[in-house]
Amino acid sequence: MRESLASPFSSLLAVVLISVVSTVRCCSPSDQTALNAFKSSLTEPNLGIFNTWSENTDCCKEWYGISCNPDTGRVTDILLRGESEDAIFKKAGRSSGYMSGSIDPAVCDLTALTSLVLADWTGISGEIPPCISSLASLRILDLAGNKLTGEIPSEIGKLSKLSVLNLAENQMSGEIPPSLTSLTELKHLELTENGISGAIPADFGSLKLLSRALLSRNELTGSIPESMSGMGRLVDLDLSRNHIEGPIPEWVGNMKVLSLLNLDSNSLSGPIPGSILCNSGFEVVNLSRNGFEGSIPDVFGSKTYFVALDLSHNMLTGRIPDSLTSAKFVGHLDISHNRLCGPIPTGSPFDHLEASSFSDNECLCGGPLMTTC
Ligand SMILES: *[C@@H]1O[C@H](CO)[C@@H](O)[C@H](O)[C@H]1NC(C)=O
Repeated sequence: MRESLASPFSSLLAVVLISVVSTVRCCSPSDQTALNAFKSSLTEPNLGIFNTWSENTDCCKEWYGISCNPDTGRVTDILLRGESEDAIFKKAGRSSGYMSGSIDPAVCDLTALTSLVLADWTGISGEIPPCISSLASLRILDLAGNKLTGEIPSEIGKLSKLSVLNLAENQMSGEIPPSLTSLTELKHLELTENGISGAIPADFGSLKLLSRALLSRNELTGSIPESMSGMGRLVDLDLSRNHIEGPIPEWVGNMKVLSLLNLDSNSLSGPIPGSILCNSGFEVVNLSRNGFEGSIPDVFGSKTYFVALDLSHNMLTGRIPDSLTSAKFVGHLDISHNRLCGPIPTGSPFDHLEASSFSDNECLCGGPLMTTC
């Protein structure tokens, strides 16, 4: 008799307990208010991301893209990428999404935020709220692949923990703010494809931990700053498709871990430093479409290893150095559209290259060009 009474009672108790536990909120109320304002400035029509951001659920547990510190209930991450294989994308039968609207300054009230990723939505416009530079814990700021306009917040340098800054593929203008070079923790800087003008700050080399500097397709002017010679961690340097002028300093070839050097489509001039061509760590070097003069330094050797070496569309003169035939590997070589002359050396890598790699020179002959010398 007792048993049969206890059983329905205990299951009722369990139901009550479960509902009590599930209504215990983790999300800090002020952060939830800020997220609601953030949400109301954005529109996402295809996936229903913001439908998961509902008032009667816990923002820390059920809101897509939100993570919190479980001890404090403070929001630490907003991770919303427009290209994803997450379930919410699969359910909608899509691999990419679209979002319009703007970034609400209320995001600056999320003072425990360490990551703000709102990338590849193609349609988010307006400016980056300047107050973003007050988010002292921010490590990752990735707003790439939208339609953001305006300037990089001038006080960005206050984000002393920032490790990733990616604003690529937007419509940002103005100059690189001087304070940016005080981001001493910065490892990855990507500003590709914007309308950023002015010179690269003279003290750019203060970014001692920077391993990727991707600044291509902007309106940058001036020369390659001397301070960069001290950037011992720089692996990828892409300054292509800007208006950078002057010579390539000799020290570029001595940078310790540099592997990708894209300086193509600028207004660089002078000779090509031999140090760049004999550094066996450089795998991709593109110096195409500049005003380089003089001959190709005869500095190649058995350690030479280029995935791609593009020296096309310059004013290089003289012969193709014979030492290139001693290279360990040259995958892609383009020396077309120069003023080179003389016979194309025989043997590797010249036996696997096409005539287009040598076209439009002064008087090159032999090899794939099929002209007799
Ligand atoms: C080098 O840069 C030029 C001009 O920007 C581009 O057309 C070419 O494809 C690049 N070469 C390689 C090997 O990527």
